[in-house]
Amino acid sequence: MKRVAVLTSGGDAPGMNAAVRAAVRTGAALGLEMLGVRRGYAGLIAGDFVPLGPRAVGGIIERGGTVLGTSRCTEFLADAGQREAIAQLQRHEISGLVVIGGNGSQRGACALGRQGVRVVGIASTIDNDLAGSDVTIGATTALGIALEAIDRLRVTASAHGRMFLVEVMGRHSGYLALHAGIAGGAEAILIPEIETEPESLAAAVLAAYRRGKSHAIVVVAEGARHDADALARHFEAHRERLGFELRVSKLGHIQRGGVPCAFDRLSATVLGAAAVQELYAGRDGVLAGIVAGKTTFTPLAAATAARKNPDLQLMELARALAE
Ligand code: F6P
Repeated sequence: MKRVAVLTSGGDAPGMNAAVRAAVRTGAALGLEMLGVRRGYAGLIAGDFVPLGPRAVGGIIERGGTVLGTSRCTEFLADAGQREAIAQLQRHEISGLVVIGGNGSQRGACALGRQGVRVVGIASTIDNDLAGSDVTIGATTALGIALEAIDRLRVTASAHGRMFLVEVMGRHSGYLALHAGIAGGAEAILIPEIETEPESLAAAVLAAYRRGKSHAIVVVAEGARHDADALARHFEAHRERLGFELRVSKLGHIQRGGVPCAFDRLSATVLGAAAVQELYAGRDGVLAGIVAGKTTFTPLAAATAARKNPDLQLMELARALAE
């Protein structure tokens, strides 16, 4: 193995840069020639490579986003796109690839691996829904941002005696909503994995109002069957069912743009280094993640077979503590 390329793909996640830095510096120390791929799989198909030495990745460990750029590349989903990506790797004599990203990105890595590319993935998504890692890079930072927003919204909600629907990211995953909701003391939490009817939510909120609560914070994942907009529309005509006056706050991409927290920098650094060491040792087709506090390598096929669910028992805890 001589040349190894690193790419970041899918939704950016705080800590991706720390993983790039660790991968590049580890590779350089092992005598490998390291390259970055610009704009994820789109750049791989276009052959958009940039040489990365240890100095080129200085001053990025504390930066959110990804210095390499990223993309959601539909072209790569097709066989022709993957063939072109593999041809580019061959043309540039790249014998190993590190893919930093979430579910879709690791499915792409798995597809490349099946076609003979030596690839190691690094679990990185704010959604924390990737099997093969207890916590993915970026999720802890995003959770902290959502939590800070909830704390702030609770202050103004209490001052006015209002209910807030706080929408957090998670098209398919309730991890952020569930964890931010519990840590933020939410009155109710709505996630894609569990269906909640607007009327049962209204009953819980009205009961909280009648118990004398000064506010109601309802954390809604964007992928919940009824998202914040749908709920707001529904309650528009039925305000009296809530007790509280209603406001909506959608946090959106603000959750992705944060400075990576200590945990995300640390885990990204450990996994970035481990991924390159794994390739150097002659092993590939795996996802580098953290399970029970230890660095682990899970076959990409197993890691991407099914989405990881959050611990749904926490919903019970949230309900019980909303009293
Ligand atoms: O990367 C994951 C994620 O942030 C999801 O939580 C969210 O549903 C989606 O990406 C948003 O994607 P985009 O940035 O393409 O709008």
